[in-house]
Amino acid sequence: MKTIIITGASAGIGEASARLFASRGWKVIGGARREEKLKAISETLSPGSFLYKSLDVTDPSSVKEFFDFAQSSSNTADALLNNAGLARGTAHVIDTTDADIQEMVDVNISGLLRVTRSYLQLNKQLNNELNSKVGGHIINLSSIAGHQSYAGGATYCATKHGVQAIASALKHEVNGTQTRISNISPGLVETEFSKVRLRDENANNKVYAGMTPLTPENIAECVWFAASQPAHVNIDEILVTPTDQASCYLVNRKK
Ligand SMILES: NC(=O)c1ccc[n+]([C@@H]2O[C@H](COP(=O)([O-])OP(=O)(O)OC[C@H]3O[C@@H](n4cnc5c(N)ncnc54)[C@H](OP(=O)(O)O)[C@@H]3O)[C@@H](O)[C@H]2O)c1
Repeated sequence: MKTIIITGASAGIGEASARLFASRGWKVIGGARREEKLKAISETLSPGSFLYKSLDVTDPSSVKEFFDFAQSSSNTADALLNNAGLARGTAHVIDTTDADIQEMVDVNISGLLRVTRSYLQLNKQLNNELNSKVGGHIINLSSIAGHQSYAGGATYCATKHGVQAIASALKHEVNGTQTRISNISPGLVETEFSKVRLRDENANNKVYAGMTPLTPENIAECVWFAASQPAHVNIDEILVTPTDQASCYLVNRKK
């Protein structure tokens, strides 16, 4: 049985990916801060297919405990989905707050790097015990904002451009170890993302008004596509947008 570790598995794209991989025979080890949500997800999936532990990617001790749990739960770590991430606010730089800047950088960059390091260390250890080549697969949730930048998104876009840079550096670092590095870069996906960003439970009514956004299940299928290729195939990048979205700047909305 293959194993995937998913950060931010309590909602949205992470939850949909957890459900898809569990339904297709993988063991999923999911983490997020809201443990009650993880528990509720596990109760709807077949026993043993979704193991979970609370995880705050900004907290080094939480990341260590989570990876200790992953190590004790599985003798393989075939893939990591670096999905935990968020945007905060839409203020222009002149008005942005230190707290918003710090949170996005802490989660989307520092947290992702911390988790990636733990995954690489775990994978190396597990595979050395098996006396096999290292292997493994790191799949990052980047964004269309990792390719384009827009007013009101300087920090978020910087963090997602950063994910692109991290993936590129990693590809060079792991070359020769059979480890794969992929980025999935979606446009608008209807999740809790905009509610978190705008601190507004009704945000989705405005953000996705008059257009058809991607679903988290659409993105889970992209993750699956990257993960299920033969070992010699590395999907570097999947940039996926709603048909209604031409770019960060142009979305077709019915009046
Ligand atoms: N929705 C979009 O339009 C869109 C487009 C492009 C890229 N993305 C990217 O896709 C990824 C998933 O976002 P989503 O749309 O699925 O949003 P979401 O529904 O808000 O889910 C975000 C997930 O990240 C987790 N998370 C946030 N902070 C965390 C932390 N400090 N430690 C651990 N987990 C944390 C949340 O869990 P807890 O709150 O329980 O910790 C939640 O499970 C993000 O990286 C986002 O930037 C989203």
